[in-house]
Amino acid sequence: MNPGTRRAVVAGIGSYVPDKVLTNQDLERVVDTSEEWIVTRTGIHERHILEDHLTTSDMAVEAASRALRHAGCPASEVDLVLLATVTGDYVFPSTACVVQEKLGLTNAGAFDIGSSCSGFIAALSTGSAFVQSGTFKNVLVIGADAISRLVDWKDRNTCVIFGDGAAAVLLRPGFGDRGILSCYLKSDGAGCRYLYQPAGGAKMPPSLDSITNRLHYIRMDGRETFKQAARSMTQAAFEALKMAGLETTDVDLMVPHQANIRIIQAAVQRMGLPMDQVAVNIDRYGNTVAASIGLALDEAQQNGRVTAGDNILMVGFGAGLTWGGIVLRWGV
Ligand code: UT7
Repeated sequence: MNPGTRRAVVAGIGSYVPDKVLTNQDLERVVDTSEEWIVTRTGIHERHILEDHLTTSDMAVEAASRALRHAGCPASEVDLVLLATVTGDYVFPSTACVVQEKLGLTNAGAFDIGSSCSGFIAALSTGSAFVQSGTFKNVLVIGADAISRLVDWKDRNTCVIFGDGAAAVLLRPGFGDRGILSCYLKSDGAGCRYLYQPAGGAKMPPSLDSITNRLHYIRMDGRETFKQAARSMTQAAFEALKMAGLETTDVDLMVPHQANIRIIQAAVQRMGLPMDQVAVNIDRYGNTVAASIGLALDEAQQNGRVTAGDNILMVGFGAGLTWGGIVLRWGV
């Protein structure tokens, strides 16, 4: 490590989940499923669902406010807002702009990043590059998704795995040995049909047909996605560690995307990490898409599982297909 190098440190963190909880028993009344199937195949016991009168920007604002408070950063000092989401308030403009206005971040630029479940990794990598290059000082990175708005509540293959939430971090420059040490991003567009929303975009604008055929909801090839996720998350972990000049044994905490407990276990086993060094909260939140990694990281820091100097390995995987990893040395 080279002390004196400018890199992005996490100066503050916050998260938010809606109050409304949907249990597996609730789902048993909606689709042909069972508590036993959901728990054994996914590890999920319950998830939070956004109330009808709220939207993605409301969750993002709450998480971001907490991160700014944690960092002691006034609204006027935020230079850039990066919001990872696939469930923005509108198709356009970006939800980052809505958040910027709601939080009064009058001196900030703002844009969205649509990398689905690896969105937090993509946004954090982008924010890190801006901070490291000296382009911006205070960069607010948010992952927020109201994925329940795209879930087909008649499709048991998808409706049991998702939940809503938001998480945010404030990045700032640091000049010691802490902060974001490496970022690895990869994608394979050949897999775009494994997980997508067929209608609503320019390829298939909304029509009576698209609505009748339920094409505005998520379509997922669960088995294929599962196979790719376990393989890609392991690859992302090893690549990010290599770029940081670290080994698996240097990892104090791994924070993976929470898609399925079996995916996490498979990736962790391939890496040779003990499960007690892995942040897992899928049981209570399900797959919260772009929020999931930040939500697990915030929970870990609130529970005292991270201390200054710890090496944190974050890995994500999602639609696109996209995957990536970040090594963060905790502290400012
Ligand atoms: O966020 C990143 C992207 N997403 C993911 O990474 C998700 C990855 N995929 C998964 O997590 C899993 O594939 C699922 C949880 C979606 C499905 O689990 P699985 O073990 O792969 O099940 P399967 O699709 O192989 O289906 C096995 C059986 C099928 O019945 P048959 O054909 O064997 O009779 C399904 O119809 O389980 C049935 N099934 C269900 N049964 C009860 C599928 N969903 C359900 C359900 N309740 N909710």
